[in-house]
Amino acid sequence: MQIVIVYESLFGNTHEIAEAIAEGLREARPDAQVACLQVAVAGADATRGADLLVVGGPTHLRGMSFGLSRKMALKAEETEAKAGLAAHEPEAGAEGPGVRDWFHSLPRPEPGSRAAAFDTRLGKPMSGGAAHVIARRLSHHGYIVVAEPEGFIIEDADDGPLSKGEHDRAKAWGASLV
Ligand SMILES: Cc1cc2nc3c(=O)[nH]c(=O)nc-3n(C[C@H](O)[C@H](O)[C@H](O)COP(=O)(O)O)c2cc1C
Repeated sequence: MQIVIVYESLFGNTHEIAEAIAEGLREARPDAQVACLQVAVAGADATRGADLLVVGGPTHLRGMSFGLSRKMALKAEETEAKAGLAAHEPEAGAEGPGVRDWFHSLPRPEPGSRAAAFDTRLGKPMSGGAAHVIARRLSHHGYIVVAEPEGFIIEDADDGPLSKGEHDRAKAWGASLV
């Protein structure tokens, strides 16, 4: 079984969740090949032949990130760093392309291909989420979405960290997909 996880992450929180999902999948299916790829390196060939594709990104303005939201995030972080406030080093490729852009070059899957979507977000009532938007795109693209879109909670808007227990919850969610 081939499983591909594609994630976008500016400050590492979604990356950490993606790795936890990969860990859960590997534990649940030791025979599976699980690749966990940052979106910029997940070219058109990356998803070909995958039995399961898992896609995730950060929630920006209640949905998926876009060029301007990433710029705003990186600018705010740079300003904090210049002011001597504790700032987090952005992830490689944080400026984009993000998952939104990546969908434009995603090849159509084989009929019956399965997929699932996740995001990171604040645990607030009006937080919104990117996962349901990603799931809708996957479905329009021809994937069968096999799980409810899932959001994993962070403590602070820019830098996280992940809320307590979210790493383990992501592992369990990954395992549940197989
Ligand atoms: C420009 C911007 C807009 C955001 N908007 C939302 C939002 O509407 N809802 C929410 O829950 N979190 C929001 N956040 C917080 C992000 O979800 C958080 O930064 C992200 O989950 C961190 O993941 P990352 O470290 O992988 O980038 C926003 C963050 C930024 C930078």
